[in-house]
Amino acid sequence: MSRKVTIVEVGARDGLQNEKKVLDQSTRLEFAERLAKAGVKNIELGSFVSPKWVPQMAGSAELIREALKRRDQGIEPWKHMDISALVPNPRGMQDALEAGVKHIAIFASASESFAQKNINCTIDESFVRFQEVMALAKAKDVRVRGYLSMCFGCPFEGEISEGVVVRLVKKLVNLGVYEVSIGDTVGIADPAQVRRLGAKLVDAVGADRLAMHFHDTRGTAIANVLASLDLGIRTFDASLGGLGGCPYAPSATGNVATEDVVYMLHRMGFDTGLDLPTLIETNKWMTEKIGHELPSRVGKAGLLEVKPIK
Ligand code: HMG
Ligand code: MG
Repeated sequence: MSRKVTIVEVGARDGLQNEKKVLDQSTRLEFAERLAKAGVKNIELGSFVSPKWVPQMAGSAELIREALKRRDQGIEPWKHMDISALVPNPRGMQDALEAGVKHIAIFASASESFAQKNINCTIDESFVRFQEVMALAKAKDVRVRGYLSMCFGCPFEGEISEGVVVRLVKKLVNLGVYEVSIGDTVGIADPAQVRRLGAKLVDAVGADRLAMHFHDTRGTAIANVLASLDLGIRTFDASLGGLGGCPYAPSATGNVATEDVVYMLHRMGFDTGLDLPTLIETNKWMTEKIGHELPSRVGKAGLLEVKPIK
């Protein structure tokens, strides 16, 4: 089984969307550049959502335009980056296309209540919007990733049926997304649940079409990554320092920290292509910019220099 793991860095979107302090454009751009220097190739840089709903993501169009310009001019370290953005509806898709975006993510919910709170419509209505977004994407040759939130439980509805999750993941794949990121939006999941639901999802769409998106609200995210690895899943969303959360999901804290996942994976002999010391440096830089300590354990502890035994 492959030892290569893809990390999708979501700190610049999922991370910053939930911070009280709104970072300016040049700091957001420098964040992305530092991540690129650490070897990040897959980055979700912003959102084409309403700035009234998520003010932290205002200005994503200008930010992404600037990043794409650097990437397309072949400037280091940008030239290796795959830059994507969240799109909730056709209006957001039009804005994304105008900014030159070639890779987006649509986001659905397995919970009706969260769909209402997050994107102000029912699950069925959201899929009607997504169909229109997908048609625009197809016409303009844009790659589309899918998210499904609240897959392991919901703060408004409690348990979420595994059958519903499997059905909606298949529905997203049938719409034409290349991969579905399975969201534990408020960090409820445990490894046994991940194994049980994950096995059904692997059966339904295959491990290659799945990514896992664990928030670390209750400290189980890293264990859930391990459980997913055992199922053959090789793509994980993570945010530098463990920044993050969803402003419309109460008590959602950050995603599993990139440094923590990378530390565990490298020690286990997996290859992520990321450079841990540069990630730790970026953690220190971000701590100053955002004005508080970040949750990442490895970010705080640093790397242990193991001296040979005499
Ligand atoms: P709405 O208020 O129902 O929108 O919001 P509307 O269609 O009725 O339009 C109202 C106004 O918004 C209009 O402007 C539209 O033009 C404008 P007005 O006429 O009043 O001047 N509008 C927009 N403006 C900018 N960009 C747009 C857009 N669409 C309409 N795309 C909407 C519906 C979807 C826009 C809103 O609910 C929204 O922006 N929601 C986004 C919430 C969000 O970003 N949440 C966080 C991301 S999801 C997440 O974090 C979970 C994830 O990480 C996975 C996990 O952890 O599970 C992905
Ligand atoms: Mg999230």
